[in-house]
Amino acid sequence: MLLLGIETSCDETAAAVVEDGRRVLSNVVASQIEQHRIYRGVVPEIASRAHTRAILPVVDEALLRSGRKITDIDAVAVTSSPGLIGSLLVGISAARTIGLVRNIPVVEVNHLEAHVFSSALEEQMEYPLVGLVVSGGHTDIYLSGSETDYVCLGHTVDDAAGEAFDKVAAILDLPYPGGPSIEEKAREGDPDAVRFPRSHLGPQSLDFSFSGVKTAVLYHCRGPKGRDALSSAVSVPDVAACFQRAVVDVIVDKTIAAARKENVRTIAVGGGVACNSCLRDMFAERARPLGLDVRFPPPEYCTDNAAMIAGLGYHKLQAGG
Ligand code: KG4
Ligand code: ZN
Repeated sequence: MLLLGIETSCDETAAAVVEDGRRVLSNVVASQIEQHRIYRGVVPEIASRAHTRAILPVVDEALLRSGRKITDIDAVAVTSSPGLIGSLLVGISAARTIGLVRNIPVVEVNHLEAHVFSSALEEQMEYPLVGLVVSGGHTDIYLSGSETDYVCLGHTVDDAAGEAFDKVAAILDLPYPGGPSIEEKAREGDPDAVRFPRSHLGPQSLDFSFSGVKTAVLYHCRGPKGRDALSSAVSVPDVAACFQRAVVDVIVDKTIAAARKENVRTIAVGGGVACNSCLRDMFAERARPLGLDVRFPPPEYCTDNAAMIAGLGYHKLQAGG
């Protein structure tokens, strides 16, 4: 069964052709990052308009690279939520139009479930598993009983992890997107130079909060009111390393706690922040000795993509969705 996947929930226009939920024949992503860079974040109106320009060329390119034609496609899978409403509508309109014209099913896919599923796209996964989604918009822990079964165990009560990286990069005058810039700077820094706070929200909580650590960085770098210029006494690499360590510390702790609480031995990590090497190293250091199997998809499936949408869409169709 051949699925065309479409993803337009945020600032990436993506299309992919996937066979039987597993074999990725093409995976095309048009990033809008350059259009949003000067604003240091995604501007919804710019995103929607860029999607309308990119959607048809991206779908065409995905078909071309797959070596298949639109008439070979058996179903369309599309991200239906969560996301920016104007952005989502562009992908949904394209998917529904193709579905109507070709008279084939259109299956809607939850973007966050797809991030958890992305580890299972090309690899066999053992279920149940605990899924961690760490991106610019979300930081969520899920219990997943199968490819199509997801229960949210915890989520951020304020900033998402990626959002905190982006905002701290702005405080440190580092380029957007902040995650890769902070990771790079942190390589030269001492992760023990400053102790930034870790917010656990109570011993049993699986929710996250990153606004405290972000404010602590702001006051440390730009004075007690956070309104000064970046202090020349501040070591940017040290702050980057200590902030990164503080965020990753809590994420890894809570995800492992969720796996132990639910008595599962597999953890699947997805979302843009899953590219972070400090996160990967800390999982390896803390989870593997406990017998936990931690899976990360390849980088192209960590960030927003349509292959994960088509893959999960296949399983949803098989399950009667
Ligand atoms: O999943 P994604 O591509 O888009 C959504 O938000 O859905 O994630 C983007 C986020 C941005 O906040 C970016 O700063 C962060 O992922 N990110 C990283 C890294 N690469 C991207 N954060 C930490 N370390 C990285 N290497
Ligand atoms: Zn995403």
